[in-house]
Amino acid sequence: MARHTLTIVKPDAVAAGNTGAILARIEKEGFSIRAVRKLRLTEAQAQAFYAVHAERPFYGDLVAFMTRGPVVAAALERDNAVRHLRDVMGATDVSKAEPGTLRAEFGTSIEENAVHGSDSDENAAIETAFFFSQTELIGAV
Ligand code: RTP
Ligand code: MG
Repeated sequence: MARHTLTIVKPDAVAAGNTGAILARIEKEGFSIRAVRKLRLTEAQAQAFYAVHAERPFYGDLVAFMTRGPVVAAALERDNAVRHLRDVMGATDVSKAEPGTLRAEFGTSIEENAVHGSDSDENAAIETAFFFSQTELIGAV
């Protein structure tokens, strides 16, 4: 099982001042932060990042949401990284997220759900390279 994944603290959670609480929970789950970066996505970047959803009815709203304010992207390392982060995040729709998950705690709707997590090892590698160069990624110490 690959050890890497990529998270984004989304604009809703950054604006609400929850970046630190979310990264603290992620560290408590045993993840090491390989790299972290705060940035505001351009429309083109948000469209490219979520290109898999280009044909979905919510794509325009999603791009508008992801570009309305800064995000914090972090490259993460842990055993079973992709699966574990998805479990800690909870369901996409906050109303269906298990109590104690990041989305249940910090999200407010199916769209404004506070965090992103890669959904496969292959996408984790692609998404990590989207934000970070190889030389910026620090191995677990
Ligand atoms: P993510 O990629 O952000 O980690 O979220 P996910 O895998 O749980 O969900 P996905 O199906 O990949 O959807 C990406 C993001 O699009 C927004 N969304 N809105 N209005 C809607 O019906 C709807 N469905 C999805 C959410 O922000 C979701 O996380
Ligand atoms: Mg997804």
